[in-house]
Amino acid sequence: MSIQWFPGHMTRARRQIEEKLKLIDVVFELLDARIPQSSRNPMVDEITGTKPRLVLLNKADLADPDATAEWSRYFRSKGLATHALDANAGTGVKEIAGKAKELLKEKIERQINKGMKPRPIRALIVGIPNVGKSTLINRLAGRNIALTGDRPGVTKGQQWIRFGGELELLDTPGILWPKFDDPVAGFRLAATGAIKEDVIHIDEVACFVLKVLVEQYGSALGERYGLEDLPQELPDMQAAVDVLEKIGRRRGCIVSGGHVDYEKAATLLLRDLRSGKLGRMTLEGPDLTE
Ligand code: G4P
Repeated sequence: MSIQWFPGHMTRARRQIEEKLKLIDVVFELLDARIPQSSRNPMVDEITGTKPRLVLLNKADLADPDATAEWSRYFRSKGLATHALDANAGTGVKEIAGKAKELLKEKIERQINKGMKPRPIRALIVGIPNVGKSTLINRLAGRNIALTGDRPGVTKGQQWIRFGGELELLDTPGILWPKFDDPVAGFRLAATGAIKEDVIHIDEVACFVLKVLVEQYGSALGERYGLEDLPQELPDMQAAVDVLEKIGRRRGCIVSGGHVDYEKAATLLLRDLRSGKLGRMTLEGPDLTE
């Protein structure tokens, strides 16, 4: 899915989420565990306001587990509860209800003290396109839900999905826009497939990715493509192009005249990265200076 976001779309998306917030107790903010900062909507704090929030690091099956642990610590240090999962396989999904309950513990206790029977916790999933919102909703529902899409008048046509006896989820997620004014975030989003390559050129994305991979995951990269003596770092674009060229040669991405087809090599590299064939990799660490 490739959504072009314009100011009108952003205002509408924001308004739709604000409407939905009135119906729920807790927000599940879905992020991509490989790029938790870049897959975060820049205005999410403002939009979700004071609603209790659980940060869900999805696609954790593709992310570096050490980096995911570091990100979890980072979010906790910012006062946000967090949980890592793989919505595709369902790993970590059943723990979500318990995490939400923990977040709302005081509210639930107050209800019990007043002699009220606590009703199921009502939740809304929010996140940028392609982060796994529909996959998670379908997982929690235990079936494929035909998502109705967002329409004005949000309470109409929406349904609650029951998960166990304790959690109810709105069947339409809140769709947020990605960070498109930060070029580095743009590359990271494109590398994971959240932004389509018609927006950013695939060769450039591959070169950006190679810089991270060489510096962070050099041995896995070398092993996958049979590359020996990879440098420790790639100081400039030309150094990245050189590595892409080597990958292209190794994998037979050659055009007439014996030249490397960079686009083909870039496609191959990104496909391997996105499918996890290169191993579990995270493309950014928390900015501890924030
Ligand atoms: P969205 O509603 O937020 O837009 O995202 P959606 O659920 O459609 O998921 C986008 C893609 O991400 C899907 O792949 C889906 O299978 C994959 N995905 C979701 N959660 C996980 C996860 O935890 N781990 C992994 N590995 N993949 C996950 P797709 O149908 O192949 O789409 P695309 O990648 O071709 O766009």
